[in-house]
Amino acid sequence: MEMKPQDGRRSPPHREVPPVVGLLLAMAVMNGLLYLCLDRFFIAPRRSALDPQHCPYGHFRMGQMNNCSAWLSCEELRTEVRQLKRVGEGAVKRVFLSEWKERKVALSRLTSLEMKDDFLHGLQMLKSLQSKHVVTLLGFCEDDNTILTEYHPLGSLSSLEATLNLSKYQAVNTWQQRLQLAMDYVGIIHYLHHSPLGTRVMCDSNDLPKTLSQYLLTSNFSIVVNDLDALPLVNHSAGALVKCGHRELHGDFVAPEQLWPYGEDVPFRDDLMPSYDEKIDIWKIPDVSSFLLGHVEGSDMVRFHLFDIHKACKSQTPAERPTAQAILDTYQKVLNSLRDTVTSQTREML
Ligand SMILES: *[C@@H]1O[C@H](CO)[C@@H](O)[C@H](O)[C@H]1NC(C)=O
Ligand SMILES: *[C@@H]1O[C@H](CO)[C@@H](O)[C@H](O)[C@H]1NC(C)=O
Ligand SMILES: *[C@@H]1O[C@H](CO)[C@@H](O)[C@H](O)[C@H]1NC(C)=O
Ligand SMILES: *[C@@H]1O[C@H](CO)[C@@H](O)[C@H](O)[C@H]1NC(C)=O
Repeated sequence: MEMKPQDGRRSPPHREVPPVVGLLLAMAVMNGLLYLCLDRFFIAPRRSALDPQHCPYGHFRMGQMNNCSAWLSCEELRTEVRQLKRVGEGAVKRVFLSEWKERKVALSRLTSLEMKDDFLHGLQMLKSLQSKHVVTLLGFCEDDNTILTEYHPLGSLSSLEATLNLSKYQAVNTWQQRLQLAMDYVGIIHYLHHSPLGTRVMCDSNDLPKTLSQYLLTSNFSIVVNDLDALPLVNHSAGALVKCGHRELHGDFVAPEQLWPYGEDVPFRDDLMPSYDEKIDIWKIPDVSSFLLGHVEGSDMVRFHLFDIHKACKSQTPAERPTAQAILDTYQKVLNSLRDTVTSQTREML
């Protein structure tokens, strides 16, 4: 975009253009280029990131590793992993930032033997559901009650706002990137509903903060599920439904069928509480997605376009709620159409 007059005939009108207009034009061009570059560098390549699935069962690969490596054994965990500091604690396990062969890794230790069943269930799920949607398992030792997984320095989705607020991440704090995160999230739910272990329900999600803490933000700004300690199986053909825990649930984050249906006058009894299916996960998607979209320029525009699909997710009748796949398709359509609109607006400005 040459701003200098090309010849004598074209120079007079140019002289009448106030410098500020030239500046604005230059800024528009810069914005356009920036947009195209961001689109190229921050959205396109991460989709092609290597999938841990490329390794055979019982093996892993992470970061810059060329080859797949076998899951670490008890012996290797005891001798090769150095525990550095505690970075998290849940009901079932404590998580320590640790070091293995000069790489940062996450070592989880069972907190109390009472929780051993949950711990083993989580480990079983982790082993069987290794994929791009799930944190990479590096090793485990049932005798020591330890599990070693890939470490993601950006932490869980609980700290998403604080992370994206950092100046070095301002460039990725856009509605496009945030909608992509929502797609990752719904992609995980879809995967769990069609997993190699059947239809799995994400039960550790009775409120928004709890739900967010189950997922990690990778350095590539994608989402992996980290905690698989409560993933009961729904088997529609066998009529097997689930209940998330044995206690009464409250509030409107959980699906209506998760609430005690017999009124305040009848005391809660677990054996009388009806069970339900994976559509409880669908009910929660609008709240999680809305959190992920945040409050940046364009977030409300995206929310507006997702209004109808999110309304369907909030249907009182579970069977009327869309599948995770239908939601994913709608998100993709909205992403494509809004991206095209923004791109053509940018071209018009040029
Ligand atoms: C991020 O992407 C790069 C290549 O694009 C890949 O090598 C790396 O494993 C990815 N990291 C994570 C944490 O997914
Ligand atoms: C990776 O595997 C290839 C072929 O199996 C082998 O030649 C190479 O030495 C391995 N590299 C490492 C770092 O283990
Ligand atoms: C984001 O950063 C600004 C200043 O840099 C600060 O005032 C604000 O509280 C931060 N917000 C969050 C959610 O961390
Ligand atoms: C679901 O139940 C059917 C019938 O009982 C059974 O054949 C099938 O293996 C079950 N599926 C899973 C994933 O357990």
